[in-house]
Amino acid sequence: MNIGVIGTGYVGLVHGVVLSEFGMNVICMDVIEEKIKMLKKGELPIYEPGLQKLLDKNVQVGRLRFTTDIKETVENSDVIFIAVGTPPKEDGSADLQYVLQAAEDIARNMNGYKVMVTKSTVPVGTGKLVKQTICGVLNKRGFDCEFDVVSNPEFLREGKAVEDCLNPDRIVIGTESEKAREIMKNVYNTLYIKRIPFVFTNIETAEMIKYASNAFLAVKISYINEIALLCEKVGADVQEIARAMGMDERISPKFLNAGPGFGGSCFPKDTKAIVDIGKKYGEEMMVIEAAIKANEKQKQKMIDKIIKNIGNNGDLTGKTIGILGLSFKPETDDVREAPSLDIIEGLVKAGAKIQAYCPKGIKEAQWRLKHLCDKVIYVNDEYEASKGADAIVIVTEWNQFKEMDLERVKENMNDNYLFDLRNIFTQKANTLNQHFRYYCVGR
Ligand code: NAD
Ligand code: UGA
Repeated sequence: MNIGVIGTGYVGLVHGVVLSEFGMNVICMDVIEEKIKMLKKGELPIYEPGLQKLLDKNVQVGRLRFTTDIKETVENSDVIFIAVGTPPKEDGSADLQYVLQAAEDIARNMNGYKVMVTKSTVPVGTGKLVKQTICGVLNKRGFDCEFDVVSNPEFLREGKAVEDCLNPDRIVIGTESEKAREIMKNVYNTLYIKRIPFVFTNIETAEMIKYASNAFLAVKISYINEIALLCEKVGADVQEIARAMGMDERISPKFLNAGPGFGGSCFPKDTKAIVDIGKKYGEEMMVIEAAIKANEKQKQKMIDKIIKNIGNNGDLTGKTIGILGLSFKPETDDVREAPSLDIIEGLVKAGAKIQAYCPKGIKEAQWRLKHLCDKVIYVNDEYEASKGADAIVIVTEWNQFKEMDLERVKENMNDNYLFDLRNIFTQKANTLNQHFRYYCVGR
């Protein structure tokens, strides 16, 4: 089967590569020439473990190619996935301009029956909007052509995207069309015969499943973070609490790691978007709104904790802080809405100088924090970040930090504060306390 993927970001690119691995002929299309140029040379515009190998293999066997040409993509595809961004607007609602632009571009080039699949995370009702947009363009063209619309939300996690696409927990397919449903079964045949669960439903339900899932996970994180704050006050240990809670199968141990708050390109934007959908339909999303508020509070609490302990009455002038981890989670170069950004902003505002290091996130952080360029320097590793530092703050739990030589870090430092916002060293807390003034989250 011939597949077109519009948008080669974290979702479109990984999905396109994995579909080619499943034996489909895939064309990945993007409007950014630079990205396509790199991909044509076999270079990845993003960091995603395992992706390079699959890309090389499938390009070599001729099942995967890249283009900026929408006409070529549409004319040579039976199924077209829209995987463009849906960033938040000022009011929190999802900006659908890229999705609707893609739908228009596709319609302008349609030459026969196609299945149009929305992969992007979109508010309920977007499937209908995509259909109307396509009908509008076809009418204008005076071209009568059958097509179907499908909602097929994506659940991959960055850093584990390849693994998640090769082995998803479920595939959700929302459509009214029997024909499109059968075609989608064929697209995912490799997963179907592997007995990965499939959910066939209507478009609206599929669209809501995505927001409901992301918002639930965000609520779970805010919940454990709030418990962590209380633990610090009452002398309890959030990690033991999470472990014991997780033993209840109804709760599950996953997503109960307390930390500096959730970040990334999805939880912050999708929680706001579902609150906005609720507003539009007159239903207040109170639990999700509380989770968003708790997340903002959590990030501020981390800043307060550092300032309270090393500052001089709230002033960090003359203090140097080493920040370890800029990406919103390990194994990605994505810094969108990363807690590191708020924490650095807060510390700089209080007067601190920052020495920041991240295995993959520096380039994007430099761009996102360019207004602070005289206060933040970017260094080559965790040891350089600790040179002359009064405090080290672990913001993202890259494995490399779990393995670092803490004695060497201590020797490099000017003072001995260690803020472990991901609780990666809590097992060693007793030994650490001999060398560092050690602070973690929820203990
Ligand atoms: P991204 O910003 O990394 O990539 C989007 C790509 O679409 C960009 O390369 C952009 O140039 C391209 N694009 C925009 N308009 C286009 C057009 N008209 N034609 C061709 N290309 C166009 O975004 P992403 O992180 O891959 O997310 C895409 C969607 O998937 C979003 O709705 C997001 O919520 C959802 N999602 C993301 C993840 C994730 O982990 N990043 C996981 C699940 C779902
Ligand atoms: C998340 C979902 O897990 C995916 O299923 C979904 O497809 C994706 O959003 C999306 O729609 O884009 P992702 O944002 O890549 O994936 O990363 P997660 O592993 O979910 O982490 C999100 C944030 O929550 C990170 O900042 C992470 O540090 C934080 N987190 C996660 C915690 O603080 N504690 C936890 O226990 C788990």
